[in-house]
Amino acid sequence: MRLTTSSLLPFLARAVYAWAPPAYPDYQLVWSDAFYGGPGQLPNETNWNILNTNLGVNNELQTYRRDRRNVQISGGRTMQLVPWRDETLGWTSGRVESKYVFVPQPGKKTMAEAMIRFGSYPADNKQGMWPAFWLLGDAIRHGTGWPACGELDIMEMVNGLLTGYGTIHCNVYPGGVCNEPTGRGGSVAMPSQEWNRWRIVWDRTTEDWLSETITWFMNDEQFFQVRGDQINNHEVWSTLTAKPLYFILNVAVGGTWPGYPNDKTKDGYGAMMEVAYVAQYATAEHNATEPQTKTC
Ligand SMILES: *[C@@H]1O[C@H](CO)[C@@H](O)[C@H](O)[C@H]1NC(C)=O
Ligand SMILES: *[C@@H]1O[C@H](CO)[C@@H](O)[C@H](O)[C@H]1NC(C)=O
Repeated sequence: MRLTTSSLLPFLARAVYAWAPPAYPDYQLVWSDAFYGGPGQLPNETNWNILNTNLGVNNELQTYRRDRRNVQISGGRTMQLVPWRDETLGWTSGRVESKYVFVPQPGKKTMAEAMIRFGSYPADNKQGMWPAFWLLGDAIRHGTGWPACGELDIMEMVNGLLTGYGTIHCNVYPGGVCNEPTGRGGSVAMPSQEWNRWRIVWDRTTEDWLSETITWFMNDEQFFQVRGDQINNHEVWSTLTAKPLYFILNVAVGGTWPGYPNDKTKDGYGAMMEVAYVAQYATAEHNATEPQTKTC
C-alpha cells in the first residue's frame, strides 16, 4: 500500500499496540501470551513446556535447552528463541510448546496467530536456520503417531530467505492424503525479517465439513487455503479442524529441509526468532467477517 496521509495514522496507532494481541471485530480473544516479564526470565511455564532435549527428528542438529540463553523474555514484551553454537552439543536452541490446547468449534471461525520477527543477520549468515510457528494435534501426546495426529504449520522459514511457508501434514507417512513427507501448502514473499503477523483461520460455519476451510495469512494477505473436500476424508480432516491442537514455536538448526550450517552461518541474537504474542480467537457469531488490519 502507498503511504498516504490516511494510511499513516492507523499505522502509527497500531504500532502502539504491536506487542499485545489486537482486538478484532466479531472475534473474542480466547487465549494468549504476550510475554510480559523482566529481561532474561524464562517464559511463563504455566503456559509453556520449555523443551530440554534433543528430539532427534528431521536430521536436525540442535539440542533444545531450558536455558535463558536459548529461551528468554526480552523485557520488551517479547520472547526470544536463540540458537548458539556449542562446543559439546554442536548447536543449542529454543523450543516452547503450549500446555494450552484448543479445538476449533463447529459453527464458528477460529483464528490462531502470532507476531514474529527474525534476527538481523542476512540470509548469507543463516544457512541451516529453520524457525517455525506451528500446531500439532494433541493426540501425539497421547500415543498417536505423526502425521496421523495432524500438523498445521502457520509459518516456516528456511535459511533466512524471505519466503514464509504454510503447510498441513496429516494421515499417513509416506504419501497419503497430505502427500507426506512434503505435506500440502503454499508460500508467500515476506516484506522483511521485521515484524509480520502470521495467522490461520478455521471456518466451520458452513453447512457441512466438505466446505469447511483453513486459510493462511501473512499480514492479512491470504497465501494458502485448504477445503474439506480437497482432503475428502472426514476423519483425516477432523485431525486438522476438530481435535485438540497446541502451539509450538522453535528455531531448528540444520535438517532435511534447510540443509546444514556452513562457515558463514552465525549464532546468537542475529539468528533468533522473536515473538511478540501468540493468540487464539473465536467468533461468537456464526458468520463474522474477516478482520481487516492491513495497513501496508
Ligand atoms: C502465567 O500464566 C498464568 C496462566 O495464564 C497466569 O495466571 C499467571 O499470572 C502468569 N504468570 C506471570 C508471572 O505472568
Ligand atoms: C448471519 O447470517 C444470517 C443469514 O445468512 C443473517 O441473518 C445474520 O444477520 C448474519 N449475522 C451477522 C452477525 O452478520
